[in-house]
Amino acid sequence: MSQPKHILCIVGTRPEGIKMAPLIKALKRESWARVTVLATAQHRGLLDQVLSLFDIRPDVDLDIMRANQALPELTARLITALDEKFVELSPDVVLAQGDTTTVMTAALVAFYRRIPFGHVEAGLRTHDLDNPFPEEMNRLVAGHLARWHFVPTERSRQNLLREGIADAAIHVTGNTVIDALLEVAATDWPLDIPLDPDRRLILVTAHRRENFGEPFRAVCRAIRTLVDRHPDVEVLYPVHPNPNISAVAHELLDGHPRIRLCSPLDYAPFVEAQKRACLILTDSGGVQEEAPALGKPVLVMRSETERPEAVDEGVVRLVGTDEERIVEEASRLLDDPRAYRQMARGISPYGDGKASQRIVDVLRAALCQDASSVMGES
Ligand code: UD1
Ligand code: UDP
Repeated sequence: MSQPKHILCIVGTRPEGIKMAPLIKALKRESWARVTVLATAQHRGLLDQVLSLFDIRPDVDLDIMRANQALPELTARLITALDEKFVELSPDVVLAQGDTTTVMTAALVAFYRRIPFGHVEAGLRTHDLDNPFPEEMNRLVAGHLARWHFVPTERSRQNLLREGIADAAIHVTGNTVIDALLEVAATDWPLDIPLDPDRRLILVTAHRRENFGEPFRAVCRAIRTLVDRHPDVEVLYPVHPNPNISAVAHELLDGHPRIRLCSPLDYAPFVEAQKRACLILTDSGGVQEEAPALGKPVLVMRSETERPEAVDEGVVRLVGTDEERIVEEASRLLDDPRAYRQMARGISPYGDGKASQRIVDVLRAALCQDASSVMGES
């Protein structure tokens, strides 16, 4: 058999850790692949949490994160640091997932160094560069530099075809987040936060840059009003450490007896919290994918989503950041059992838990001339 192919897997933030973990594990089982894991650590604590849950130890750690990092300086530092490592490691392939600054710079540096780039979770689009900001730009850049586009759904495939990407380079695999979710959700994990079993739980997360400032203040006011109007409801809100979010969340929500702010939860307890919730309010991408699979209604506090499949199925609703609209939409679900039941259907438009294996199969076929004999070995 020829030399194993050197696959460099990049992870930067919490969701990249979660979504790359099943793929890294699947690649490590392949005899034709030599896997190096590079953590940019664009997120420090949040990334460390998820990698340790999945028992992944990065081979290289760029330790990039700085407090309240601005996008231009983050981008500049990532380009320089990634380039140094790409030259030193000389991989055959670079793989990265999603639409963060880590992913956009990894794709760009791979392009400059003529290393084939595989984009995991390709083809998501809102067609609006301001929403989400800067992620829509990041995925456009990464998408146009990729050799392989691993798209979660047929809809994301169509987005790429409309942009002139060759059909043969697009592979509908499902989203690896469902691989991770199914593995973790199969176990009941302790949630070390005392919750009142007699109250209905609303789970909240928020972090989007385009919501910083007044939109996020309106979200916080809506949460308070909602809880005040529903005495049998309690809120659990693991606060993202971005200071633009955490300072405002604590200023506006601290001290309410039925609103519990806590540090970001490890992935396993967060999945447990989703399982226990009756309703989820979020601007997160990953949560829009996971919650429907767990049968939980989601109200998305954004004006647009690149994940329209669950909206079309009627299990996710876009409600924006208007205070009254959020209160009204959430109250409708809390007060009207029929409306609630219509949204609380367990469906999984983003995957079946086998996305990582499909990605491995595509890479094996593309990279191994002796693929058939290697397939027999793996
Ligand atoms: C980033 C991604 C976003 C993704 C999100 C997932 C970009 C531009 N943004 O947003 O696409 O949806 O991650 O959560 O790539 N911080 C900590 N500890 C951590 C992580 C963050 O203290 O473990 C604080 C730091 O002050 C850091 C700030 O949060 O500077 C912002 O982090 P950054 O990665 O730039 O942006 P996010 O808002 O987390
Ligand atoms: N998540 C977590 N702990 C938390 C909040 C979220 O483990 O306290 C997980 C969540 O289940 C999902 C991912 O983090 O898989 C989403 O990350 P985030 O919302 O930060 O980023 P996005 O998906 O919007 O890029």
